[in-house]
Amino acid sequence: MSNADSPIPAGQPLWHGRFGDGPSDELLAFTVSLSYDQRLAMDDIAGSRAHVAMLGSVGLLTSDEVNSVQAALNTVESELAGGVFVFAPTDEDIHTAVERRVTEIAGDAGAKLHTGRSRNDQVATDLRLWVKRESKAVARRITALQEALLSRAESAGGAYLPGYTHLQRAQPVLLSHHLLAHVWALGRDAERWLSTYASADVSPLGAGALAGSSLPIDPDFTAGALGFSRRFENSLDAVSDRDFVAEALFAATLLQVHLSRLGEEIVLWASEEFGFVRLPDAYSTGSSMLPQKKNPDIAELARGKAGRVLGDLTGFLATLKGLPLAYNRDLQEDKEPLFDAVDTCVLTLSALTGLISAIEFDDARMKSAADSPASSATDLAEYLVEKGTPFRDAHAIVGALVRRSLEGDESLAELVAAEPTLGESAVPLLAPGAAVARRTSPGGAGPKPVALQLIAAKELLASQSLLLR
Ligand code: ARG
Repeated sequence: MSNADSPIPAGQPLWHGRFGDGPSDELLAFTVSLSYDQRLAMDDIAGSRAHVAMLGSVGLLTSDEVNSVQAALNTVESELAGGVFVFAPTDEDIHTAVERRVTEIAGDAGAKLHTGRSRNDQVATDLRLWVKRESKAVARRITALQEALLSRAESAGGAYLPGYTHLQRAQPVLLSHHLLAHVWALGRDAERWLSTYASADVSPLGAGALAGSSLPIDPDFTAGALGFSRRFENSLDAVSDRDFVAEALFAATLLQVHLSRLGEEIVLWASEEFGFVRLPDAYSTGSSMLPQKKNPDIAELARGKAGRVLGDLTGFLATLKGLPLAYNRDLQEDKEPLFDAVDTCVLTLSALTGLISAIEFDDARMKSAADSPASSATDLAEYLVEKGTPFRDAHAIVGALVRRSLEGDESLAELVAAEPTLGESAVPLLAPGAAVARRTSPGGAGPKPVALQLIAAKELLASQSLLLR
């Protein structure tokens, strides 16, 4: 069949029948989503393949018709993959483009493709397939960053740095402990993406425009053929539910917030004031004016892009909040924020993975920052606690010594030695490295618990990878 015989007249949209006039340029410019929903092309074709197979299985299409539509879908797939698919000005979105082309190729059989289906259940199906695939892809990239952090943690040995609260030096912690903290946060992100996968894993195909169909369609068939674990229970919910998009956007936002916090630490650590890390050439940038500069742009953009992803989430929630059941065209606004958020996370993850793998730690600089005697203050108090002093009293005694050491000429070690409740035997607590070695409680920052934590983190990554195969 030539284009001229197509049931869709040239220059007309698929829904031309009820309309006297063709669409205005302004309408098309405002409503067409093709520029971005093309990304759903392969999912759209997969959905159509399943739908046509179902139509054949329930006798709505003959097997010849099924075969000719499937062959047309193959052609469309290779045209799209080869970049030779010719879009028409009236192709509103990827769904209409594919259907139009299938109908051009397969004629009357092609014109049966949309039997018992609406773009409302179709687009929801496509987007769910996309989210399922991308959720796992994002989680795999999260795992790669976790692996980079873990491997740096393993090779960090006994290196330690000040741990901070309120960005004030608090207690020394092993560098590996600090790096592993990010591994656990990212583990929760991976889990959230897997739960997003589960939310998307319900087939809406067969809900029709909103109310199902009078035809004997079989939504369980298409759900199974597309690899969904189950089908919708309520057709209205099926076409209006975008919870899985909101959940993906939240998973992306919290992930990006975590990446932003990691980025912020790298920015601080790379500053001359901290000097805890040196930036690798391949992962830093120069200044166009200041020849001496080496800037942590990856870390800064990881931080900056969190604002943008958060905007994707809040913008989309605002779009959803006023919508009555069922499908409303507003829902077309789900795709751009979703694609943007996922693209941003994926790019950030790979840039940070490269940066973390190549960054140089300055162990000596971290050590000298951590080794101020005052960072052992808690250990002095805990030493008193072990000798029976109530903690609150111990806190006051040590606090007063620290104040005197800051105000007067005597060092903390001298004051400790002279203090009757502490004495000479407490002085070794102030030695460099003593405080970090004494962090022995489960999950703590010292060598003993961190050795166990490394094993646990490896187990986490192994089980995560298993779920992502
Ligand atoms: N491009 C539309 C979207 O993304 C597809 C569904 C259009 N449905 C409709 N009834 N106009 O939501």
